[in-house]
Amino acid sequence: MSSIESVLTETRIFAPRDAFRQAATVSGLEGYQALCDAAEQDYTGFWADLARQEINWQTPFTEVLDESDAPFYRWFADGKLNASYNCIDRHLEKRANKIALIFEADDGAITNITYKELHQRVCRFANALKKQGIGLGDRVIIYLPMSIEAIVAMQACARIGAIHSVVFGGFSAKSLHERIVDVGAKLVITADGGVRGGKPVALKAAVDEAISQGGCEAIKKVIVYQRTGIDIAWHAERDLWWHEIESAESDYCEPVWVDAEHPLFILYTSGSTGTPKGVQHSTGGYLLGAITSMKWVFDHKATDIYWCTADVGWITGHSYVAYGPLALGSTQVVFEGVPTYPDAGRFWQMVERHKVSIFYTAPTAIRSLIKLGGDLPNRYDLSSLRLLGTVGEPINPEAWMWYHKVVGKERCPIADTWWQTETGSHMIAPLPGAINLKPGSCTRPLPGIIMDIVEEDGTHIDGTGGGLLVVKKPWPSMIRNIWGNPERFRKAYFPEELKGLYLAGDSAHRDEDGYFWIMGRIDDVLNVSGHRLGTMEIESALVANPLVAEAAIVGRPHEIKGESIVAYVVLKGERPEGDDAKTIAAQLRDWVGKEIGPIAKPDEIRFGENLPKTRSGKIMRRLLRSLAKGEEITSDISTLDNPAILEQLKQTVG
Ligand code: WTA
Repeated sequence: MSSIESVLTETRIFAPRDAFRQAATVSGLEGYQALCDAAEQDYTGFWADLARQEINWQTPFTEVLDESDAPFYRWFADGKLNASYNCIDRHLEKRANKIALIFEADDGAITNITYKELHQRVCRFANALKKQGIGLGDRVIIYLPMSIEAIVAMQACARIGAIHSVVFGGFSAKSLHERIVDVGAKLVITADGGVRGGKPVALKAAVDEAISQGGCEAIKKVIVYQRTGIDIAWHAERDLWWHEIESAESDYCEPVWVDAEHPLFILYTSGSTGTPKGVQHSTGGYLLGAITSMKWVFDHKATDIYWCTADVGWITGHSYVAYGPLALGSTQVVFEGVPTYPDAGRFWQMVERHKVSIFYTAPTAIRSLIKLGGDLPNRYDLSSLRLLGTVGEPINPEAWMWYHKVVGKERCPIADTWWQTETGSHMIAPLPGAINLKPGSCTRPLPGIIMDIVEEDGTHIDGTGGGLLVVKKPWPSMIRNIWGNPERFRKAYFPEELKGLYLAGDSAHRDEDGYFWIMGRIDDVLNVSGHRLGTMEIESALVANPLVAEAAIVGRPHEIKGESIVAYVVLKGERPEGDDAKTIAAQLRDWVGKEIGPIAKPDEIRFGENLPKTRSGKIMRRLLRSLAKGEEITSDISTLDNPAILEQLKQTVG
């Protein structure tokens, strides 16, 4: 059996409010449908028109989509443009003095920077990079804290046609080394350190350690942004202070016009197996995806104050911090710190302070803020908010309801955005003035994005069945290659069985209204007594219990059933022990039995104060599977945020 059963029934529906719908860029279901129809009638014409409208081309393209070397698709290939020009220069005539970035440091200090100032800083830094011998096609590693400088560094690379590869500042020297070597970087841009939650984080030290490990001979220079003033080792022949080289440069740097297919960046993403994959994105198609989704999904307007909480080390921080908002001339908040410092009200305090109107964050942040004080948002004035968004994982319906009621005051639509590092921009998400919302569903594909659900051999699943989530047609912002490994690219995303469909690696089902519901990663599907179940739905049933803040489900081999279900649960209150734990575990099992059915009842429940997560907040189910089997953890846990909780999660309560 190759389909996956859905066991969750969610019936709540939220229509866009009239005022929102009327003012929206895409208004009403008719507006959405018209765009989808246009894409259906003339797929390449649809994208070509948008590309002409939304992007300033130095040389207009005449070819739209080249499929001759599929799955190595090329979009707008004979056009030339510059991403930095499109993000900054084109606003200078009308919006030079508009604030581009409102930077709030960990300690609350605020720095505003206008488009004109951003332009000068990017130009100066781009000139400085050129002086260090960086030019078209050279790879540059960026290992910086969230800062204006991180965005300047990315934009400066784009300006001169250098390819950046941002490595999240929370990654170790080992991970950094792996990426420097794989990408063949010539230069590293880092900071002496960063500050998160009141605590210093060393960055330059990790760069020194990574480079000393060998294989990094191509690295000629390390540019260091002085953020904290901590002591660092200095290699005079190699290291340069950012402020010294920037101040010597002129305020203008001519953009380098690149082919639309020129790689704008490479961003590493880790799969469940193997080394991280260097996801290679284009310039033209990528930028188009970021721009159209900002307009459609975030309904972005010139007056909005926009805040995406993602770090630039992740794809969300590329498409929806460093490129998309700037391309639209947005005013956006950039935050150095963490949501829990000085307390779990920080996000809401910042929404109030900066009058944020569009707020985009991750379900993991939402769930942990619920656990730390579900009524904290009520202490702040959140009336500036008009739209909320989530990304990164399925949002459990009850967490959605909290976000909707307590943060959005039942006024703000929630855009649950499904997409991936590889897709470059949103793929399935509501256009908030057009699509009715259902808590827990990312709703419907964007116009021009053709999604489907299929069996393992690529057969289309009709009606409401669950299966593999695929994309049927190439789209402009799609991954172009895995850096240096085209064979791996083909196997991972276009496996032969699927006959040209793009395999997302997620399981999903579609309901009777054509809404998509993500059920989890394919690797995580459980097989219980012949039923194939996604992890997401059982987790959501648990999170719907008033006692529960977070839950993760994994399977453990079982002689008779195939797999038994093990649940890891974090309660809103204290972690229970002894008889308390047993009583609550029994209650939760019954609860799942009633919510879903006996088939989904966890065989075993374990309580923790937290769950093991990657640095980007995804639950590490692979590790939980090992714990459930009683295996020693031998896999790499260097990306684990909180290793101490593994001990708690080894303990069974029944
Ligand atoms: C998951 C993040 C459900 C999914 C942009 C996907 C989601 C993976 C959602 C990509 C969502 C992301 N609902 N699941 N709204 N958004 N995912 O590459 O499993 O860090 O394949 O990109 O996150 O994660 P990545």
